[in-house]
Amino acid sequence: MKVLLIYSSIHHGNTEKIVRAMGESINADIIETRNLKINTLNEYDLIGFGSGIYYGKLHKNILELIDKLPTLSNKKVFVFSTSGQGKVKYNDFVEQKLKEKGFNVVGSFACKGYDTFGPFKLIGGIAKGRPNDKDFQNAKDFAKKLISL
Ligand SMILES: Cc1cc2nc3c(=O)[nH]c(=O)nc-3n(C[C@H](O)[C@H](O)[C@H](O)COP(=O)(O)O)c2cc1C
Repeated sequence: MKVLLIYSSIHHGNTEKIVRAMGESINADIIETRNLKINTLNEYDLIGFGSGIYYGKLHKNILELIDKLPTLSNKKVFVFSTSGQGKVKYNDFVEQKLKEKGFNVVGSFACKGYDTFGPFKLIGGIAKGRPNDKDFQNAKDFAKKLISL
């Protein structure tokens, strides 16, 4: 199975660490959102979209990319994110957008990521040290499970 992981990681490189762990565990190709050539998506059986969470949603680079995508009927996709709170619910918005485009959403992953946004900076940030080794292991296990589906 050919897998592509598309990501944006702006705040602290947290999502980039997660995407590297996932990619390594399943031998996936990894690309930063801005470098993606949309016509290459046809080559992949499974595509992951991920970033940090900004005001409750994935990064606007990912949102704008999904808006630009053609309807790729039934292509398998999944969503991943890191955030100060680590809530998987933050992925819902993008999952819904992908479903509206006709994609088959097969998974969703989230973990905490170091966050120094706004007032959190004053207290040295939250989710310090995240993602950590356990997060990396969870990300790897998640990715392996997806390719076994
Ligand atoms: C402008 C801004 C808004 C953010 N909004 C949220 C948010 O709504 N919820 C949350 O849990 N974390 C929020 N965060 C924290 C980031 O999602 C978190 O640090 C994430 O791991 C960053 O990923 P990255 O380093 O890959 O960009 C925000 C951070 C920034 C800079």
